[in-house]
Amino acid sequence: MNFEFADRVKRLPPYLFAEIEKVIKEKKAQGVDLISLSIGDPDLPPPPLVIAALKEEVVNLKSHQYSLSQGELDFRHAVADWCKKRFHIDISQDEVIALLGSKEGLSNIPRAFVNAGDHVLVPNPSYPVYNNGSTILNDGIPIAMPLLQENGFKPDLEAVHPEKVKLMFLNYPNNPTSATVEKKFLKQAVEFARENNIILCYDNAYSEVTFNGYRAPSILEVDGAMEVAVEFHSCSKTFNMMGDRIAFAVGNKQLINGLAKVKSQIDSGPPLYIQKVAAKALATYKSDEPPDFLKKNNQIYAERRDVLVEYLRSVGFKCDKPKATFYVWLNCRSDSVKFATRLLSAGVAVTPGIGFGEHGENYVRFSLTQPKERIIEACKRITALFGCAEMQ
Ligand SMILES: Cc1ncc(COP(=O)(O)O)c(C=O)c1O
Repeated sequence: MNFEFADRVKRLPPYLFAEIEKVIKEKKAQGVDLISLSIGDPDLPPPPLVIAALKEEVVNLKSHQYSLSQGELDFRHAVADWCKKRFHIDISQDEVIALLGSKEGLSNIPRAFVNAGDHVLVPNPSYPVYNNGSTILNDGIPIAMPLLQENGFKPDLEAVHPEKVKLMFLNYPNNPTSATVEKKFLKQAVEFARENNIILCYDNAYSEVTFNGYRAPSILEVDGAMEVAVEFHSCSKTFNMMGDRIAFAVGNKQLINGLAKVKSQIDSGPPLYIQKVAAKALATYKSDEPPDFLKKNNQIYAERRDVLVEYLRSVGFKCDKPKATFYVWLNCRSDSVKFATRLLSAGVAVTPGIGFGEHGENYVRFSLTQPKERIIEACKRITALFGCAEMQ
């Protein structure tokens, strides 16, 4: 028997991390104590109130029935209340949809609007799902928008050819570059989308992982955004509920309806008890300020960031301190896979930038998802590997 993959699956780019993953497996099999700064899977637990709510809700026998496909009304109300408190925007429950993680929503929305051959604007480097799960697997054609350091890792929208473009992705605070944007850029993006009749999918998964007083805006704060935009949020990064698979999208009603139509044929919404737990977690916001447990988590990430960035600077790298996300994007001034493979030989795993798109080449991404002591140990190992002189 020979079952051939569909063309859309064959069009997926080769998996660039295969070689690195092989080495990681070998190292682990040899019992090497690997420090993984590669994946964006937070090591911090969900806050106690999430665990308490989960214990309470999971034993409710009614919580195991099917959910409304778009998400329960209580959950959607909780999201709308959160949006009001957090971003001062008015959202109705029809403008909200519950998701099985934002990855699911991001990859399903083009199915509702993108026809075979339509162009989709994808930041490059970026979270690989926009290019692959969202665009290629929905028969769209990804068009790269380079995110360059000299432009603050923002795409140059004036350089984009909007013909044939149906949909675009933007993501700030950004993975992998950790760049943030101010409202001025969001206004420009909304104007661009309105002028060219383009659906704007704004991924705000890291809106709550911010430092030193920085607060990430919502694109829906911009006048006219509700005409063209849908914004994705995730409880994964905000409440460390990665495996619970709960997220939501808010925005233009027609776009939410399209996503709901697709999803109603594919899934039946997140488990009821998880929606109840997430609603309770969202209700911990009393104003636009994050609740204390979130402030504490962000303080932990900020300390780890300071350790790593100060170390990298001390050995001669130019490296900004990110205002948001738990990533440090380092210009390693060399082939990113070779650089990452070299670090791996010292027992430190980072992600080569090329894995996020060709414009990620010469960069590597460090995730701050290990305790500070492990990050300090990683820095020592890197020094032992290179010797400071070579890194200058
Ligand atoms: C930019 C970005 N968006 C979305 C996601 C998906 O998060 P989830 O599906 O857990 O909500 C991630 C996960 O790493 C991400 O980095």
